[in-house]
Amino acid sequence: MVQMDEKSIKIGWRAPSNIALIKYWGKRANQLPENGSLSITLENSSTTTYLSIRKKEKADGEIGMKYYFHGVQNQKFGKKIDQLLNLLQSEMPFLYDYKLVFHSENNFPHSAGIASSASSMAAVALCLVSMEQIVTRRKLVKAEFFQRASVIARLGSGSASRSIFGGIVTWGTIASIEGSSDLYATPFPLHELSRLKHAGDIILIVNAREKKVSSSLGHAMMAAHPYREGRKNQANSNLNELTKAISEDNYHLIAKIAENEALSLHALLMTSSSGTILLQPNTLQIIEEIKKFRESTGLDIFFTIDAGPNVHLIYFENQREMVHQFVRDKLVCYCENGQWIDDKIGSGPKLLTPEIEF
Ligand code: DP6
Repeated sequence: MVQMDEKSIKIGWRAPSNIALIKYWGKRANQLPENGSLSITLENSSTTTYLSIRKKEKADGEIGMKYYFHGVQNQKFGKKIDQLLNLLQSEMPFLYDYKLVFHSENNFPHSAGIASSASSMAAVALCLVSMEQIVTRRKLVKAEFFQRASVIARLGSGSASRSIFGGIVTWGTIASIEGSSDLYATPFPLHELSRLKHAGDIILIVNAREKKVSSSLGHAMMAAHPYREGRKNQANSNLNELTKAISEDNYHLIAKIAENEALSLHALLMTSSSGTILLQPNTLQIIEEIKKFRESTGLDIFFTIDAGPNVHLIYFENQREMVHQFVRDKLVCYCENGQWIDDKIGSGPKLLTPEIEF
């Protein structure tokens, strides 16, 4: 264990991004979701964060924090971390006694249009819970450690709660999932032979610019949405069906539900008071090509889309060669500067400073 008399302590975590198959869309107070969600944790798209802590000579009643992104102080994300730290005031009172400096880097292209708040907030939350263990000298067992990190990550960004775990992850109280909660995410067990264990995700970058609507605004628009109640029912019923389909290896149904969720998310955006359209002509071309390819080959590949124009193409490991050829032949032409990312299901966060026990 790190000695507390060391002047400065460094804690490092790498946390992955995730892509939701059942979309979290709409929230209540305290970052509680209106509906349950389910995601695939990614392997390659991740954020690395180092937190350096140094005890203040004298507590000054303030939380002192600096946040650097790729070496440059970042106001926008720094503000989000400030908000998170303020929320944690009573839960983590020791935050007042230290100077905190975060250094974060994403390993996916800066302008790839991939939402980074899930991986960034997850990495920050893991660093904070590690810090808590060190300064309070209270050691949590692993399951408690990750559950607590998921709660903290959720307070920073809802989807980040799921990035604390590898594989398939759900978030939200779901009757059929034991131990599930609105407060934290829960890993969803896959049986030994599940093909999802080797799922691939090709991220087709239709547009790399930052999206026009932030997720937070999107969630807020759901509060007065005419389809609000219908959406809650749809998402929860899709989630129940999807978990059943995953357990029963019904890949045809998995594809159907995931695509229904992606299109429903965008239908909700379009039918909100702001009439937001994030899909672009090339997004629709890609969807058409995927459907045609699926029909002609009989492969059970499918697409999903986040709150933006980029398309995730999910496939299974034995299809890799065929699917990659298809992407090169038919889809790259719809991607901005031919950009796409080769990712897959991942095993979850990694501690980068092994001298810190957890
Ligand atoms: C469409 O987690 O980014 O990606 O809680 O306001 O930070 P905040 O929102 P965020 O919303 C993600 C929305 C989504 C669907 C999903 O990931 O479940």
